[in-house]
Amino acid sequence: MSAEQSLREVNVPRDGYDFVVVSNRLPVDRDVAEDGSSTWRRSPGGLVSALAPVMAQRDGAWVGWSGAPDEDLEPFDHDVFHLVPVALSELEVRRYYEGFSNATLWPLYHDVIASPEFHRTWWYAYRRVNERFARQAAETAAPGATVWVQDYQLQLVPRMLRRLRPDVTIGFFNHIPFPPTEIFSQLPWRRAVLDGLTGADLIGFQRPGDAQNFQRCVRKYLGVQFIKGTAQFSESTADGEETSWTVNAGSYPISIDVESIKELTADPSVRARAKEIREELGNPETVYLGVDRLDYTKGIRHRIKAYGELLHDGELSVEDSVLIQVASPSRERVDSYRQLRELVEGMVGRINGQHDTISHTAIRYLHHGYPFEEMVALYLAADVMLVTALRDGMNLVAKEYVAARQDNSGVLVLSEFTGAAEQLRQAVLVNPHDIDGLKEAMLHARDMPRTEARKRMVAMRRQVLTHDVVDWSQRFLDDLAQHAAAHAPGGDDDATAAGARAGGSHE
Ligand code: F6P
Repeated sequence: MSAEQSLREVNVPRDGYDFVVVSNRLPVDRDVAEDGSSTWRRSPGGLVSALAPVMAQRDGAWVGWSGAPDEDLEPFDHDVFHLVPVALSELEVRRYYEGFSNATLWPLYHDVIASPEFHRTWWYAYRRVNERFARQAAETAAPGATVWVQDYQLQLVPRMLRRLRPDVTIGFFNHIPFPPTEIFSQLPWRRAVLDGLTGADLIGFQRPGDAQNFQRCVRKYLGVQFIKGTAQFSESTADGEETSWTVNAGSYPISIDVESIKELTADPSVRARAKEIREELGNPETVYLGVDRLDYTKGIRHRIKAYGELLHDGELSVEDSVLIQVASPSRERVDSYRQLRELVEGMVGRINGQHDTISHTAIRYLHHGYPFEEMVALYLAADVMLVTALRDGMNLVAKEYVAARQDNSGVLVLSEFTGAAEQLRQAVLVNPHDIDGLKEAMLHARDMPRTEARKRMVAMRRQVLTHDVVDWSQRFLDDLAQHAAAHAPGGDDDATAAGARAGGSHE
């Protein structure tokens, strides 16, 4: 049986789900108790909180991987979610997730900060796993359903799903940057990836620049031109018929769950914890904070280098200031992540060894994940938040810090290479490659007059509080619904409404 034939055979459920989200991971994490029993817990993060109410309202299902290899789970319900697990073997985790997703696409899409590796065996696994996700979505969606596919791990799913289920409306959102043509060109499977993505009705990106990069790549490699964010695609079906559809592409900058941060910042125990953190640090004048997954895109090395030099120059002292660096473990079996951990831990060890006193530590390096309450307490405790990513699709930590600063105090130092920098213009913007510039920005943030810091924070808070993640998901889903209505058989087949809107930025 050919791949094309096998893709066409699918059981369309009569009582499927009207709204289906497809993402690499399911929106739940497993909690394992001491006696070995396990329960599921809703995953933290904006996407999950934004889509939970939509799931409840629209008879939704979520297709994804449990996070463990070789685990074949039946569909199950947990809080508002109907969860449809997709199984991955240990070899597929190695090749599809750690390999193609995180050692090929991730570095390629993040300015080749690390060298992407190109292996055909990884690509074959990526294609096979994408096919499995597409099939599972096709067997979960009700006739005429809306399916929203998330992120770079699943770029082939839209076209595969369209072939299996031409009746469903397909959205795709890319959470990470989309690279310029010159970089994307390196990918040996560049046409197949663009083919995959353009199976969607609406493709969302973080920044207008990402959407432009994508449109240029499509023009160069598929020969199709987007005009005002809209393009026309066609292909022959297995029966030899010609089928065509309209694709819109535009920017939809993601945001955070503002409500949950508001609740936590008002919680007396979280506020008390923030005070306790400062006391435990010896009440320094300035608490600098970095919060990242331990990933080479985040610029953690640059930040630590700048901080170490400021201590060395005598511009900062361990008595007066401290850097708390939370580096949560991530993708730990991928080589570049292992190397980064060694580098960062070596740097922290050297700086602390040189500058610590019995009572003061220069850098509090925490290689753990923490509950969200603790993160919010850290945001409240920090005078200066350091976000120095070398490239980042958005960076939600920057927005979380801003949302947490209810009293309008605090300074955000923000890399200009994050999506967030396009919305948080009043941050102290930095080029993290410029270590002297970064050092100056760290001192400028410390010394900024209160009135100026307040003015900047008020403006940034206005932006974040009025553009939360619920707003983001509604805008995307409204545009997708408009697109479906305009292009439904018998519809006015006019791309103007959603197309024109998707063509521009929403910011
Ligand atoms: O930023 C892209 C992303 O996939 C996020 O959605 C996710 O939180 C993060 O990277 C970590 O992903 P994972 O641990 O699944 O590789």
